[in-house]
Amino acid sequence: MNDTPAAEPFDAVDVIRTKRDRHRLSDAQIDWVIDAYTRGVVAEEQMSALAMAVLLNGMSRGEIARWTRAMIDSGERMDFSGLSRPTADKHSTGGVGDKITLPLAPLVATFGVAVPQLSGRGLGHTGGTLDKLESIAGWRAALSNDEVMAQLDDVGAVICAAGGGLAPADKKLYALRDVTGTVEAIPLIASSIMSKKIAEGTGALVLDVKVGSGAFMKDLDQARELARTMVDLGTDAGVRTVALLTDMEVPLGLTAGNALEVRETLEVLEGAGPRDVVDLTVALAVEMLAAADRAVGQDEVRLALADGRAMDTWRRMIAAQGGDPDAPLPVARETDHVVADRTGVLAELDAYAVGVAAWRLGAGRTRREDPVQAGAGIEIHAKPGDQVVAGQRLLTLHTETPERFARAREVLEGGWSVAPVGTDVPARPLVLDRIH
Ligand code: URA
Repeated sequence: MNDTPAAEPFDAVDVIRTKRDRHRLSDAQIDWVIDAYTRGVVAEEQMSALAMAVLLNGMSRGEIARWTRAMIDSGERMDFSGLSRPTADKHSTGGVGDKITLPLAPLVATFGVAVPQLSGRGLGHTGGTLDKLESIAGWRAALSNDEVMAQLDDVGAVICAAGGGLAPADKKLYALRDVTGTVEAIPLIASSIMSKKIAEGTGALVLDVKVGSGAFMKDLDQARELARTMVDLGTDAGVRTVALLTDMEVPLGLTAGNALEVRETLEVLEGAGPRDVVDLTVALAVEMLAAADRAVGQDEVRLALADGRAMDTWRRMIAAQGGDPDAPLPVARETDHVVADRTGVLAELDAYAVGVAAWRLGAGRTRREDPVQAGAGIEIHAKPGDQVVAGQRLLTLHTETPERFARAREVLEGGWSVAPVGTDVPARPLVLDRIH
């Protein structure tokens, strides 16, 4: 047997030098480097250097498109063309208190559009959809491709773990970027997200690109560039893609943490819930339906929340994955409070501080293999613009492990402020822009 490795057409060091010296990578270089990295021929330290060169020197639209395609080609593609209904998916770039996927998937499904929502777990201060749903007794995140298809046919909505077969190159590369300071490169974020969404096979895609302290993108121009890059990638791949740029300076809704966010989801599905969560759910549903060629107005969508149709689909969706929609949600044993230091108007509640505090209380993980606490997190009792009185509770902190309170409180210090009575705190717009 000849165990000499087959000759490789490129040398990783030459590919790194090309990008380091600000030249365009050729299609063949990109195809090779992604494939060779997935095979383990390009070493982690070499890919790390290349990712840093991309972060510093950028990539052209053509390079990003080819990079994305190479990541798609590293694994399998799903195909929903056999379904009797059109498909639409939503992807959020990640925020604090962002539980929108939970009410949105069943809501859209009630209008005859199938929602294949292949999701991830939380890392760092932003929560993960699967972690939230796993606080429901019995609910199962891992489904086979056949189970996904059967559930889409029957219920019309699936929220489950993306299988290891979709864009395996991205799985490796994302883990590497996470520990090498290269997450924030727009070409790498855009190709990472879009390779998974295109490989998933959805017909239409609505992107919720978060902007603000609790998001990857802190300013509107960067977020616009990311949104434009992703919309172009989707459109070029034949996926009808639209992006909303939405505010993440303040947490969404009144909860951050797994079971707490499921509880808030149930309020929304009962026709109540915080206004920002309802408004964004409705705005994204209208976009998803339009992208799937079902023009449905805001009022009609709101009605499906108010009259219980979306709740019926939610219950079927949870039960189809082994979950008990009637089981009581876990509640953390210990609570602590942050109270207003004076009477006035809440001027600021920083999304990043709330996200990190919820994470430190046990709602999130530091390493991928860490467990999360279902009941941990933060309840928010006042949002910017609300009148508050000295001593009033602003936040309730929940955890199983009270030794975590000190570090959570530490990050919340400076994360909120009360302005004098009568101060005008203008309402922040929720949707900042739309890119299509
Ligand atoms: N989410 C992803 O899937 N990839 C990124 O690079 C960033 C956020």
